[in-house]
Amino acid sequence: MSSSDKVERLRQLREKAQEGGGLDRIEKQHALGKQTARERIELLLDEGSFEEFDMFVNHRCTKFGLDGKKIPGDGVVTGYGTIDGRLVYVFSHDFTVFGGSLSETFAEKVIKIMDMAAANGAPVIGLNDSGGARIQEGIESLAGYGEIFYRNVIYSGVVPQISVILGPCAGGAVYSPAITDFTIMVEKTSYMFVTGPKVVKAVTGEEVTVDQLGGAHIHATRSGVASIICKSEQDALMLVRKLVSYVPQNNMEDPVSCQCTDPADRAEAWLDEYVPDNPNKPYEMRKIIEAVVDGGEFLEIQRMFSPNIIVGFARMNGKPVGIVANQPSYLAGVLDNDASIKGARFVRFCDAFNIPLVTLVDVPGFMPGTKQEYGGIIRNGAKLLYAFAEATVPKVTLIVRKAYGGAYDVMSSKHLRSDVNYAWPSAEIAVMGPEGAVEIIFSRDLEKSPDAAAKKQELVEDYKEHFANPYSAAERGYVDDVIIPSTTRFRLIRALEMLAGKRQSLPARKHGNIPL
Ligand code: HXC
Repeated sequence: MSSSDKVERLRQLREKAQEGGGLDRIEKQHALGKQTARERIELLLDEGSFEEFDMFVNHRCTKFGLDGKKIPGDGVVTGYGTIDGRLVYVFSHDFTVFGGSLSETFAEKVIKIMDMAAANGAPVIGLNDSGGARIQEGIESLAGYGEIFYRNVIYSGVVPQISVILGPCAGGAVYSPAITDFTIMVEKTSYMFVTGPKVVKAVTGEEVTVDQLGGAHIHATRSGVASIICKSEQDALMLVRKLVSYVPQNNMEDPVSCQCTDPADRAEAWLDEYVPDNPNKPYEMRKIIEAVVDGGEFLEIQRMFSPNIIVGFARMNGKPVGIVANQPSYLAGVLDNDASIKGARFVRFCDAFNIPLVTLVDVPGFMPGTKQEYGGIIRNGAKLLYAFAEATVPKVTLIVRKAYGGAYDVMSSKHLRSDVNYAWPSAEIAVMGPEGAVEIIFSRDLEKSPDAAAKKQELVEDYKEHFANPYSAAERGYVDDVIIPSTTRFRLIRALEMLAGKRQSLPARKHGNIPL
């Protein structure tokens, strides 16, 4: 064969590989509103940046009719490319090839790029659309999953790992996305569950649809598995690009700064009057976040899961920060089981990847009651405390209104080694709210009083006078300054810039034992 024939043959082989499982299956994929594996990569990466590996890899299975059926690439497209010029590694399941099911060789392709991502310090993005373990292979495919899980774990906190769910994700396959840092799902076309509806019916008798069991909405609102849900695949892939812009390449680098056009000293006069005088009146914490961050841009994570706490990314004077904030307009911003877990995981991600933390506090305490206690509020609340205490990134905290009880300590207080702690004049720092406190410490006086209601009101006012302000904490230096709300953006930016060179190390240990 001449050289030019060889080149021609290669061209044909490459073209054939592009067809995946065939044009009819591609059409079926499109009819469902889904893209092919390569189309998704094209949308995700900078134009023309993708370099594919292992296009000619094939499975080795000789069982159950697979012997003669070989499709180049074997159901997954892998390689590297760039997002806004920054290197990322990608694997993209090809549902048109054996339903995107995972074989031994498929796993080897994924493992190869995971190892390269760790060695070269760049994020791994997985586009998942798969029927799970390739049934014909058995143990080889299970072993393949195991190898992927192992790498998800050992590279956790080394390089950012992002999963996008663009179709089915069932069985043990859900555990790889579960270990990654973020899981993005698409409404109506993606679902995740350990066992599907048929097995559920057989085992428990419960009848449930695919969407009710593991659709995007359920995972966004109930299980917390989905970090963000999107209306379409395009939206999901664009969102990954945005998410990547906030995170560094790896744990040894800082996140990338952008040119900031929003003045650092932009004052917001309305903030001086924003917090309601009535401490029980809710307000929208997102408005404060959007008022102080660059251009009001806030990428919220797990928005619909446990809305009483808000977490997400923003920039301050061009530099990415992680925001953690109580949300007074939902359950008064109380810390419950889900809120504690949600906050803790986000804090740990930011700490692992050198993203400074800005914490906005308005918290009445931990949620009381049997539901929360039986659900492990002691164990779960401790996770958030642990995460904040362990974090060595720059930590800046602002107490906006309530900081009551244990929740005061937990929400990145000075005592957990937050670096700069500010309060607004509306801050109330106390062991508990005035009504509860008065009922406990003056119960006998109130019983004896001829006008208990008036007496209680008098005592409540007295208590407020003493505790419902930030000055006792400021006197002790637990709050570094009480700031004028309209100047918050400037004060936070200055604090973060002062802390840019922070170095802190913890005592040597193998690892801590966070109360899981
Ligand atoms: C081999 C598979 C496959 C699999 C799908 N296919 N899943 N081949 N192994 N796991 C093939 C089908 O035979 C079919 O081939 C093609 O992919 C498309 O599948 P359809 O069923 O026609 O598509 P659809 O109706 O859209 O249904 C998709 C599906 C369904 C919901 C994913 O295929 C399904 O339930 N598959 C099995 C899911 C599952 O139980 N997987 C194992 C999970 S356990 P043809 O040639 O007909 O087009 C697991 C263990 C991991 O993953 C453990 C790790 C610890």
